[in-house]
Amino acid sequence: MAGRALLLVVLVLTAQLCGCTAANIGDGGFSVEFIHRDSVKSPLHDPSLTLHDRVLAAVRRSAARPYAGSDPSGGVAEIVSTPYEYLMYVRVGTPPTRMLALVDSGSNLVWFKCRNGTSTSGPPPAAGGAPVSPVFDLSNSSTYGLVACRLPSCQAIYGTSCDANQFCQYQYSYGDGSTTSGILSTETFYFDDAPGGCFGCRERPQLHLSRVNFGCATKATGNTFQLAGYVGLGAGNGSLVNQIGALTSLGRRFAYCLAPFYVNVSSILDFGARATVTEPGAVTTPLIPSAVDAFYTILLTSVKVGSSTIAPPKPYPVIVDSGTTLTFLDKALLDPIVEEISRSIKLPRKQSPEKQLGLCYDVGVGGSTQDWEKHFPEVTLEFGGGGVITLQARNAFAELPVGTVCLAMAPVTDDRSVAIIGNIAQQNFRVGFDMDKGTVTFAAADCAKSYPSPPASVSL
Ligand SMILES: *[C@@H]1O[C@H](CO)[C@@H](O)[C@H](O)[C@H]1NC(C)=O
Ligand SMILES: *[C@@H]1O[C@H](CO)[C@@H](O)[C@H](O)[C@H]1NC(C)=O
Ligand SMILES: *[C@@H]1O[C@H](CO)[C@@H](O)[C@H](O)[C@H]1NC(C)=O
Ligand SMILES: *[C@@H]1O[C@H](CO)[C@@H](O)[C@H](O)[C@H]1NC(C)=O
Repeated sequence: MAGRALLLVVLVLTAQLCGCTAANIGDGGFSVEFIHRDSVKSPLHDPSLTLHDRVLAAVRRSAARPYAGSDPSGGVAEIVSTPYEYLMYVRVGTPPTRMLALVDSGSNLVWFKCRNGTSTSGPPPAAGGAPVSPVFDLSNSSTYGLVACRLPSCQAIYGTSCDANQFCQYQYSYGDGSTTSGILSTETFYFDDAPGGCFGCRERPQLHLSRVNFGCATKATGNTFQLAGYVGLGAGNGSLVNQIGALTSLGRRFAYCLAPFYVNVSSILDFGARATVTEPGAVTTPLIPSAVDAFYTILLTSVKVGSSTIAPPKPYPVIVDSGTTLTFLDKALLDPIVEEISRSIKLPRKQSPEKQLGLCYDVGVGGSTQDWEKHFPEVTLEFGGGGVITLQARNAFAELPVGTVCLAMAPVTDDRSVAIIGNIAQQNFRVGFDMDKGTVTFAAADCAKSYPSPPASVSL
């Protein structure tokens, strides 16, 4: 009896703490679902693909996105980015429209497809009957605002200029050739907190942000038909994390915990105090200045394969990016890594299913692919400041078709001259980015458990 009463009290208290009306989040920060573009929760989900097919598709996307420092057409292009792997929901406007956007930690602009009432000047609908995301209708929102082009908030965002009415217009292009243009605007954004510990709540606590700058896109080209826009999460002016830092006391920080591709669950994206990475074994390394202000760049000082250390001649800048699948390194660093790995792995080599990937093994011997990890050496990365992280076999290698395991690293090339720690290497790490402190922190974590799913049943 006492136990039952206590349970009831706890449930009532929990409900009150969470606020069964849509309470604003406190100083603790908030978390959102970080949805892989191929997962069941994404409109890009293809049910005919197995989990291994999805990894191969992601690797191919990684290959297909050329990195370029400038726009070949001579237009505005700060962007050197492959923003195609993770998605999040944002609610925009009053009343809010809930929209699913690509999250890009390699660019700064936040933008959504817009229309003005019945105007037909918005972006075209999806081709081939693909599901179309809602488009934000500015005429139906009481909090929509334009930005005068003389304001610092216009000048702070790359690719802006004055239109005929002295409002701020923008034009932005991405490394893969996608473009977006329209008018810089302000709106109210809502972020619903992930349902951790608040399963009894009718509505989740939310972050309510007024006057967020975003691009209201009247034109968008490229591979974004099913999505409503992009959330730039880069290190530069105008990115969501910088705007949250400017508009709240949450600080300019975020963290993610990427669930492995082979587990069918969502990942999590944290902001504010929740983005502090304090797990045991956390290592912190300083951010260094980047040629592209959006990038989170750190120094790689050495790579260890088994017990052999491979050190670049000098500390080597790499960007940490959630939107790139593979890890890209200079050939001068990658070649000795490949050599050392091939020396230590005794399995039969196999033809690569993807030309970018040079080193593949047949792990299907004996019909079992379960235990391939144990044949692979430990790979450790040492960063500026001395912090070391250990990559598990499934961070350094990916199982593409069943039975084929390939090193998930590729060489940088002339048109992709940026070295990147990609998202396979980051799976099952909590990775925190803190621009107030100028640091990136990594800690091993079980990211398949990071996004809370509700208990099977809650009964009183
Ligand atoms: C939207 O349409 C209304 C009515 O046609 C017009 O007054 C307003 O300026 C338009 N707003 C924008 C941002 O284009
Ligand atoms: C406009 O907003 C009203 C609520 O104020 C809503 O009922 C209506 O569906 C919205 N219209 C469109 C086209 O989104
Ligand atoms: C960011 O914006 C401010 C103006 O608000 C500007 O002074 C600064 O140079 C900008 N920083 C970058 C890296 O563009
Ligand atoms: C993944 O999980 C969803 C439920 O979230 C389920 O509907 C789906 O069938 C699962 N897919 C696979 C391949 O297990």
